[in-house]
Amino acid sequence: MSPAQRSEPEPERFQVAFDGRALPATAGQSLAAVLLDAGIRSWRTTRVQHRPRGLFCGIGICYDCLLTVDGVPNQRACLVPARPGMTLSSTSPEHRPFETGEDTVD
Ligand code: FES
Repeated sequence: MSPAQRSEPEPERFQVAFDGRALPATAGQSLAAVLLDAGIRSWRTTRVQHRPRGLFCGIGICYDCLLTVDGVPNQRACLVPARPGMTLSSTSPEHRPFETGEDTVD
């Protein structure tokens, strides 16, 4: 069997909704990858100075990539895999995981 004949099956393609906008996604992508593929570089702002935030570490450490997923706030977009029909929205400042102190990077 030649390498050309050993083709991988096509990954599942579907859409997710972000702030009312349909975005294409592929099975296996993180939500951050879906947003970046759509040209969206930031999806929340810092609480104090309202600076834009999106992907930073990409490995679940910094919490810069928070967003609301299917109504559950403060999900890390770099860790959550995309699934068909997900509804994403920008995380509002009142849903931050840290109730005291300033943003970690601002
Ligand atoms: S980008 Fe750092 S936790 Fe997601």
